[in-house]
Amino acid sequence: MIEVRPMRWWHIEQVMVWEKQLFDSTAWSAAQMWSELAREQRRYYVVVSDEQFGADGQGATGDGVVVGYAGINLLPPDADVQTVAVAPSLQGRGWARRLVELLIADAAEADCAQILLEVRADNDRALQLYEGLGFEVIARRTSYYGPGEDALIMRLRPIPMLAVDAS
Ligand SMILES: CC(C)(COP(=O)(O)OP(=O)(O)OC[C@H]1O[C@@H](n2cnc3c(N)ncnc32)[C@H](O)[C@@H]1OP(=O)(O)O)[C@@H](O)C(=O)NCCC(=O)NCCS
Repeated sequence: MIEVRPMRWWHIEQVMVWEKQLFDSTAWSAAQMWSELAREQRRYYVVVSDEQFGADGQGATGDGVVVGYAGINLLPPDADVQTVAVAPSLQGRGWARRLVELLIADAAEADCAQILLEVRADNDRALQLYEGLGFEVIARRTSYYGPGEDALIMRLRPIPMLAVDAS
């Protein structure tokens, strides 16, 4: 069984393994993730599986194996998507979409007027994910991640009311 739950401190160790694998040089440290979870305006979720996933699976902690995560910073009138990631073996099955829908619902509940995020201009999967949820590109930051590595700033406004909940 796979399900989405609020992220707790005991998930951080597993999240860090995916963070290094999926974000490489821009990966957050465990200290940054601890700090994020401690902040009141943040909402973080994990996708957890009660199965092991072989080669790219991580050791279970008693609360399932983390196979995805996402978070948002809620500072009305704005909300900022902090991160979204799904383990390679489970990509393409709708888990990122589900995670971002939860973040959108949190932003709506917090009375935010818009959601912003930044994404690498060459990250086609992420761009498709966000565009599919209604985000639009509003700016480009040239060489933001390094020479020739541009960032796109995307915005969702107005924020739709979505009927979702993390079980
Ligand atoms: C980007 C990422 C989070 C998408 O996760 P995912 O679970 O595969 O995404 P989903 O299955 O929910 O798919 C959502 C949308 O993404 C797009 N998408 C998913 N897999 C895709 C693929 N193989 N090729 C192109 N687009 C794809 C589709 O538009 C899909 O919409 P659909 O469901 O209407 O078809 C994932 O690829 C990932 O973790 N990448 C590495 C970390 C990263 O880049 N994070 C984003 C930082 S801004």
